[in-house]
Amino acid sequence: MNFEIIRLESVDSTNDFAKSKIEEFSVKKNFVIVAKEQTNGRGQRGNLWFSEKGKNITCSIAIFFDSFLIENQFYISKAVSISIINALSFFKSGFEIKWPNDIYFEKKKIAGILIENSISGKNLNYSIIGIGLNVNQEIFENDLDKATSLKNIISKNIDPNFLFELILKEISILINLLEKKMFEEIDLYYFQFLMNYKILAKYSDNSGVFKGKIIGIENSGHLIIEKQTGEIKKYDFKEIVFL
Ligand code: BTN
Repeated sequence: MNFEIIRLESVDSTNDFAKSKIEEFSVKKNFVIVAKEQTNGRGQRGNLWFSEKGKNITCSIAIFFDSFLIENQFYISKAVSISIINALSFFKSGFEIKWPNDIYFEKKKIAGILIENSISGKNLNYSIIGIGLNVNQEIFENDLDKATSLKNIISKNIDPNFLFELILKEISILINLLEKKMFEEIDLYYFQFLMNYKILAKYSDNSGVFKGKIIGIENSGHLIIEKQTGEIKKYDFKEIVFL
């Protein structure tokens, strides 16, 4: 898969830039926006995404689908998380996916993903896949997520562009699997990297703190947990906290 790559010095948000490029100029081909700096980088749940200029990867990949059912959209998220881990594995092993799609190393977040879809009927028209990956930044202010970077992990500066190219290669491979609807293969990788999968761990939900095991994920992306009491519960994105 080939992507036109558009490199920017500074932009509000690469996701917003990608969206306006598609909508204003009726672009229908896959492309990538990479920026050295974002002035209004957006994260999940309305959060902001901070990234020191020139040190990290902040990019958005716009992908158009021929026929891809909305009900399978969580597979995009799975495919992108796997791609990032595969690329990072070039440097070190031990990266994990924290459900739904954050990338962690030893309980610290190294990358976040913000996927925005355009829907037409029962199908996805296009997806804008925003990736923020901390590469050489060492200090994180307002560090609510307990952030880390590749540099903090391997004690080396890495050219963000080199890692970006690795990610693009991996994403091409995984998007190819997606387009061929090879969902079982994608699940094999995803569960191999999923944090706490089938391991007893502590969580909290609206009924309090409990121990349980992640036993699966629904097609919709809902997390399925078997509590220590034997009760099986399904969770939407904001309904559970990993402790
Ligand atoms: C998260 O909250 O974990 C998701 C963070 C996603 C950040 C990336 S940086 C590039 C792209 N443009 C944005 O405005 N956000 C995403």
